[in-house]
Amino acid sequence: MKTVVEAKRIKKVYGAKGNMFTALDEIDLTIVEGEFVGIMGPSGAGKSTLLNVLATIDQPTSGDIVIDGISILNMNEERLSRFRRDNLGFLFQDYNLLDTLTVKENIILPLALAKVNIKELEQRVNEIADTFGIRPILEKYPYQISGGQKQRTAASRAIISNPSLLLADEPTGALDSKSATDLLESLKGLNEQRKATVLMVTHDAFAASYCKRVLFIKDGKIFTELVKGNVSRKEFFNKVLDVLAVLGGGTNDVI
Ligand SMILES: Nc1ncnc2c1ncn2[C@@H]1O[C@H](COP(=O)(O)OP(=O)(O)OP(=O)(O)O)[C@@H](O)[C@H]1O
Ligand SMILES: [Mg+2]
Repeated sequence: MKTVVEAKRIKKVYGAKGNMFTALDEIDLTIVEGEFVGIMGPSGAGKSTLLNVLATIDQPTSGDIVIDGISILNMNEERLSRFRRDNLGFLFQDYNLLDTLTVKENIILPLALAKVNIKELEQRVNEIADTFGIRPILEKYPYQISGGQKQRTAASRAIISNPSLLLADEPTGALDSKSATDLLESLKGLNEQRKATVLMVTHDAFAASYCKRVLFIKDGKIFTELVKGNVSRKEFFNKVLDVLAVLGGGTNDVI
């Protein structure tokens, strides 16, 4: 199986002498193609820092990160932005859609510079819109659709270029439970049917129960990991809750 992410001894230290804080403390992480990995842990544990370092948004203080066989450290800005565009998809809590573009235009935006022919493009947009259940709203503008539909539009945009890795930070954070479930079901479909590789940070045990593996982070270190295996989503949900009871950082802690 193809390795998508190989991260070794990642360390991230913020601040300067006398006022240093270690947000990531020697984290090792391997993700293979087709995985759906969740990251959980208390507020301040280092989840977003880890995601941002893997996303090439932030640089680790030390360690090695290889994504898609390419070492992502020490690249100049131009190579980095090309790498992001060609290899990664991003999904954040706030949808970041452009208000002056339709849903469809927002989705195809990442391909605007690529040489894809119109027919192929139409077909691809329709396929993805079906996966995320947003085909009927393709011609609408962001202000005309719900939060859940916005997030499914953002997810469609994130994967239109077929990234090797989809990185999501609290993608259900701003959604009501029905919209969250719709998004998670779509991500699950994307993962199972198209073998998309997904890494998702979440506070929500329900969201985490859609993952095939969940890493729990505490104080910048990997505390433990759960693998779903053959148990039902409900059973996995209960296992996630059990770990959170020990670790803290579940939804109940935050509210
Ligand atoms: N730019 C920064 N400068 C200094 N410290 C930072 C910076 N960014 C994050 N930190 C610290 O690093 C730690 C990890 O932050 P991070 O955002 O990764 O946490 P998190 O697990 O995503 O938390 P949350 O669940 O609240 O989103 C926190 O203690 C935070 O205060
Ligand atoms: Mg965070």
